[in-house]
Amino acid sequence: MKNLLNIRDLSVDEISEIIKTAKNMETGNFELIPEKAAVLMFCENSTRTRLSFEMAAKNLGMKVLNFDSAKSSFSKGESLKSTIENLYYIGANIVILRHCENDLLEKTVEKINNPIKFINAGAGSYSHPSQALLDYYTMLEHLKALKGKKITIIGDIEHSRVARSNIELLSKFEADVHVCAPEYFKPSDLQKLPATYDKSLSKSIEKADVVMCLRIQKERLNGQAIDVADYIKDYQLTTEKVEKYAPNAIIMHPGPVNYDVEMSEELIESEKGKTILEQVRNGVYVRMAILKILLKEA
Ligand code: CP
Repeated sequence: MKNLLNIRDLSVDEISEIIKTAKNMETGNFELIPEKAAVLMFCENSTRTRLSFEMAAKNLGMKVLNFDSAKSSFSKGESLKSTIENLYYIGANIVILRHCENDLLEKTVEKINNPIKFINAGAGSYSHPSQALLDYYTMLEHLKALKGKKITIIGDIEHSRVARSNIELLSKFEADVHVCAPEYFKPSDLQKLPATYDKSLSKSIEKADVVMCLRIQKERLNGQAIDVADYIKDYQLTTEKVEKYAPNAIIMHPGPVNYDVEMSEELIESEKGKTILEQVRNGVYVRMAILKILLKEA
C-alpha cells in the first residue's frame, strides 16, 4: 500500500491487514513512530475525520502539523502540488487531505516526485476510504463476516462519498448491498454500483443485518430544492420502522447526524443508536493502522 486514495485500489488482503493492525492498536500492541510527521490538510470542514487522524497520529507519538487552508498561501495563488512539495522539505512524511473536488488528490499525487505519502480524508462526492474501513471494522465486531449479509444504505446516495466507498468495500467481501433513496437522491452512476436500488424504505431495510443512514449533503445540492418534511415522512429511520422491518439490524451513521431528519432522536438515543459512537471510537484505531502501514517503509 503506497497511499490510501480510494477503496478500489485495495485488495481484500490489504483491507484485512488494516483490520488486523487496527485490532492490535485497540489492544495497545504497537510501537511508536515519533520520527514521523503528518500534515492535516482539511480544505473542507470536518470534526470526526480531522480530530480522529490527529488523535491517531498522536497516539503513535507522531508530530502533527495543522495546515490552515484559509490562512495559507493558497490565497496568494500557490498550487496544491507546490504546497505539498514544500511540506516535504519542511519535514512532513504524510499528507492527510480533505477536499471538495473529486479527483484533485489523485491528479496531484501523479505529479509529486518525492516520497511523501497521501491519505484521502474525503474527496467530494467520490470517496472517503478511511470512513469505509472504520465502518467495516465496526460491522465485523458485530457480525464476524459480511458474506451474504444484507446491508442497506439510506439517504442522499447521489452526493455521498461514504456510500460510494462503503459499496466498493462491502462488495469486495460479497455483502448483499442495497441503497434506498427518493428519486432525487438516486445515484446517477447506479449502473456502475454493485448495489440494489429500492425507492421503498420498508422493502429496502426488510430483514437487513445493517442499516446505515446518511445526512442530506446540503453543501453539494447546488441550489436543488428538497422538501425536507416530505423526505422525513418517507425516509427518516425511526425506532418503529426498525422494530417492524429490521429488528436485528445494527444501526449506523458516519456522522455528522442531523437529529430528527435522517434518524429520529429516539432511535439515536436508544441502545441501537450506540453503534454510531462505536464507529467514532473505532475510527481512531483504524486510522492508527493506516498511518502505521503507510509509514512502515517511508
Ligand atoms: N464522517 C465524517 O467524515 O465526519 P466529518 O465530516 O466530521 O469528518
